[in-house]
Amino acid sequence: MVGVRHNGDALSEGIINKAQFGICLGDLFMLLDVMSNSSKANLDEFDTDHLPRGTLAKQIENKSTCDFWRCSVCTYDNDDSLLFCELCGALHDSPNVFENKGENEVYSIRNNSISVMAKALFARMPHRTTKKSSPTDLPLRIDSMSDEFNAKASLNTLHERFTVLTSKRSVSIVPFRFDILSPDDMVSQGKNFSRMHQKDKYVPSIPNMALPSGLDENEVVRVLPHCEELDTSPACLYEVVSNIASTDDVKSQILSCNLPHLKLDKRSKNNKKAIPLDKYKPGKWVYEQGLETLSQLNIAVVGHVDSGKSTLCGRLLHLLGRISNKEIHKYQKEAKEKGKGSFAYAWAMDDSVEERERGITMTVAIAHFESKNSRVVLLDSPGHKDFVPNMISGVAQADAAILVVDASKGSFEAGMGIHGVGQTKEHAQLIRSFGVEQIVVAVNKMDAVQYAQERFDYIKFQLSSFLRSCGFKETHITWIPLSAMENQNLVTLASDVRLIWYHGVCLLDAIDSLYTPERDVFKPLLLPICDVISSHSLGQIAACGKLEAGAIRQGSKVLVMPSGELATVRYIERDSQACALARTGDHVAVSLQGLDGVNLVPGGVLCHPDFPVSIASLLELKILVLDIKMPILIGSHVEFHIHHAKEAARVTKIISLINQKGGDTSKGSRLLVSRQSAIIEVSLDRPVCVEEFSGCRALGRVVLRASGVTVAVGIVSRVIAEDLP
Ligand code: GTP
Ligand code: MG
Repeated sequence: MVGVRHNGDALSEGIINKAQFGICLGDLFMLLDVMSNSSKANLDEFDTDHLPRGTLAKQIENKSTCDFWRCSVCTYDNDDSLLFCELCGALHDSPNVFENKGENEVYSIRNNSISVMAKALFARMPHRTTKKSSPTDLPLRIDSMSDEFNAKASLNTLHERFTVLTSKRSVSIVPFRFDILSPDDMVSQGKNFSRMHQKDKYVPSIPNMALPSGLDENEVVRVLPHCEELDTSPACLYEVVSNIASTDDVKSQILSCNLPHLKLDKRSKNNKKAIPLDKYKPGKWVYEQGLETLSQLNIAVVGHVDSGKSTLCGRLLHLLGRISNKEIHKYQKEAKEKGKGSFAYAWAMDDSVEERERGITMTVAIAHFESKNSRVVLLDSPGHKDFVPNMISGVAQADAAILVVDASKGSFEAGMGIHGVGQTKEHAQLIRSFGVEQIVVAVNKMDAVQYAQERFDYIKFQLSSFLRSCGFKETHITWIPLSAMENQNLVTLASDVRLIWYHGVCLLDAIDSLYTPERDVFKPLLLPICDVISSHSLGQIAACGKLEAGAIRQGSKVLVMPSGELATVRYIERDSQACALARTGDHVAVSLQGLDGVNLVPGGVLCHPDFPVSIASLLELKILVLDIKMPILIGSHVEFHIHHAKEAARVTKIISLINQKGGDTSKGSRLLVSRQSAIIEVSLDRPVCVEEFSGCRALGRVVLRASGVTVAVGIVSRVIAEDLP
């Protein structure tokens, strides 16, 4: 603990107890607050009883005559009236400020007592031209009150306090509101709008297939005046679309639509020139084969640790016949032997020794079942905060989500972050930032609260406002009280009379009512690799992942990025069954031949040889800063997550702040605090496979984390410089 106190009687007497110390620190921050507002009017309003006696008060009065002082930590030139650095929050360390004068003072902070790491952190900060560097002579002192004295701790405290002060002062920045515009929405809004209207005029039979890149639906309607009479079978539709694409005026439109996508010097390793996206024509097999199969719906199961996600998935699969009674009995017996009887259903998903011993999920487990309308892929994510990066990898593939909430007393509150960071909130923010719009909130463990309606209503009330603030629409949220353990409201409506007050649907019906998002089937292949496995049935190593665009079949040539090696698809498995082809949205395992296995890595991408994905390490991002304790500075180190890739990165520029009210931007800043939106530049340690968000959403969404916490979510607005494979 550090006692910061201005010159006064108590100090000269040298006896200050901890209670007094608290008041002193409070006084200091009040002063900092007043001074940072730099307003004489404020000073007049300030309670003079709290003002320090003597010279500090004079300083405040005289501050209008001061110039600048240079911070010894970040070298930023501050207004002389500030007692702490405006940029990094370090205390003004002029000799007069922290000098030991009193006989009874034990410690002082001097220039060289600021950590070397802190200096390194700010080494690249821009400097403001110094008018004059004159040290103030504020007689502030650092006094030690106990053995807990720690300069680093005091710096952190000041950083935190500084963040609060700064956010108060940034009056021109309207706090971000999820329900108005997210960076994600800003880019997608116009595109969605033009894609949606008049949709059923011409694609009633294949609502989930997007048109080839650049084709506007209005154009289709204009060129085809009698579209109501058209044969709307997929094959005919494809022909129509191809013909339209070849008419001259539409071609020029397509070209202008796609100008941002043209990458002039993009080449694959075999030196083929990259072809403009609008030149891509999918093979006929894409729309002719296998349309009779149900579309695939990928659902991420997320939520706070121990909320019952794995138990819920295991129970659901058992009820649907995907796990046999024999298997469940085996899990029950084994779990009981290990003293973890309650985890029997969870063991159906948690199959590694470590996961079972620790009783937590560590990696995303994948399971399949068929509902009335779709082939469902369940992505059971880890809830523990240490495994959020793995959870991000699962969420990156999701079309919808089941947010599992533990209804029992104290557990729901923990998930909401009452005692620190709660993963219910973090997961909800992450799934929304990955473009998931539909969410089923499974309020689990209702048996632990006697299926009380009051508890369910309380949870719904608390969580719904947060979900709305994340950007979820009320109509896309389904609330279900259930018990995975006692099989209530899972595949049939509840049998327990205590749930008589609930009149909604069961979980399976809620899943069936989820719609499959629009798929980019007619675009070139993009398959981000989430895992690399060696499988007996597949014969050799295989890449697992969800197709984000295009389609593949056995014999297709694919480019393996970032290595740039060409390979041939040997075998495809979907839901552990061999299949001839896979389309956008399908989660598959693809075995490849003709490549060196070391080049097949999670975080890589399989793509069409003529349309290689970009590889880059310098990116421009539009981000939304979440609730953070430490500001994001130029030079801050972050963990950069994009689809299944994770890379160390550094914030190199804060280009501009986004004013959410007007949607326009104001000039750059030196730091970002909670709830601000900004355009920034990041430099990655190693290049990743990436696409601009406007070109491919799935490969253009990013998450920034630092110190084990998600600090910002956003999109790739520009690939600044591409690297070659
Ligand atoms: P992580 O993956 O580690 O985040 O945990 P999880 O959310 O998958 O939880 P898991 O399924 O492993 O269950 C955690 C504990 O909650 C186990 O002891 C389960 O028996 C218990 N549990 C799960 N569902 C219910 C329920 O409906 N009622 C009660 N009372 N307990 C449940
Ligand atoms: Mg689990």
